Amino acid sequence: MSLRFASMVCLAAVAVATAPALTHADDAELALNSPDQFNWSLFVKVNAPAPDGKNRLWETWADNPTTFPSRPSRTDKPKFPTQAPQRALEAVSQQILRAALIGRNRLRISPDGSEEVRRNQASFDFIVNNNLYFREGIVDAVKAQKPLSFPPESIELKAVWKPMDGLAPAQRARYYVNKTPDGREFGLVGLHIMTKAVPNWTWATFEQADNVARCDIIGCRDHFGTEKADVKPNDMPNKGYPECKHTAALDKMFTDAGLREGFWAFYCLKGSQIDFADQSAWGTRLANSITEDGFVDTSSCMSCHSRSALNTSAKSKFSGGFNPDGTGPLGYPDPGTFFATKPPFKFTDPRPPYQFLPMDFVWSFTKARSAVQ
Ligand code: HEC
Repeated sequence: MSLRFASMVCLAAVAVATAPALTHADDAELALNSPDQFNWSLFVKVNAPAPDGKNRLWETWADNPTTFPSRPSRTDKPKFPTQAPQRALEAVSQQILRAALIGRNRLRISPDGSEEVRRNQASFDFIVNNNLYFREGIVDAVKAQKPLSFPPESIELKAVWKPMDGLAPAQRARYYVNKTPDGREFGLVGLHIMTKAVPNWTWATFEQADNVARCDIIGCRDHFGTEKADVKPNDMPNKGYPECKHTAALDKMFTDAGLREGFWAFYCLKGSQIDFADQSAWGTRLANSITEDGFVDTSSCMSCHSRSALNTSAKSKFSGGFNPDGTGPLGYPDPGTFFATKPPFKFTDPRPPYQFLPMDFVWSFTKARSAVQ
């Protein structure tokens, strides 16, 4: 079931800053050397007011139902929206896949819908122009044995909302809020952002400050935007954390981009991931306390997304990237996931054929349906 809501109408006449261009040229250097700063600048860019004066820039981008239509046509290709798509929140599919694997359902977020995936035009055009928006097109790509590579300007994000029902006005004022046509309010609680500024994408997750498990298990790390760069996890779960008081440098970023509303002060960068492992070969972890709830201890954005690889039935080897016991993979990818021959591999040999073709870290391809014509 999906839940639809229209975007909130702006009440105050705010001066709409034109969203800064999303260029990439010198981004790669910043993305690798100052990833937290890079990811904040990205947050500010994608949340800048959209030219329509009503939405944030990312809310005008293509969502999954637009990119991967339920009845795709080879001739009538999906078009990038010229108006913000009507919002269609989906159930958190990775949680559902995991619940199916481990045979129990411990969802804290509404299975009726709380998340949405969005992609900018560069990412959308890549998918559509390469006929990857329907299953047969994906199967052709697998048969052609050419691993995908999105253009460097690509941005993919996932947003998670929760109902604001019963929240006191002072609490509610700490969220970016949208309203359903019947007046029900939803607040933004989490935002995953990945960009192709570097070949294996950049990885970041943001959380609303009041998420009770925000820094549980793996802590919070932000060396640019908050005065306390490293927050250790509490001994007990779900106890909450002090606000992530923003630095002057981050405040300036927000002001310069025209983001002056008070609620932005309550968004925190949980962390950035720049590689599968650190310099000491130790696997790195990153998770959002809402979307990765239940597997925060074994969550590595890069390791799990690297498992997005499909065979000639457009199926992946690992459902939602999870191991059969519901844990996530950590560390570097295992080449055995992808190739038709068995390890060990000698990388001096020619590359064997792919049984599961890498889909450049993007999992949403599993949403593609068969073409109707
Ligand atoms: C154990 C596997 C797993 C982990 C860990 C994981 N993801 Fe995902 N992610 C998925 C799956 C599966 C989807 C597609 C289904 C969905 O939307 O839930 C997805 C979707 C996404 C999307 C939408 C674009 C796409 O790839 O389809 C973004 C953006 C994203 N994840 C970012 C992240 C970030 C950032 C992290 C780390 C903080 C992360 N993910 C951790 C499995 C994972």
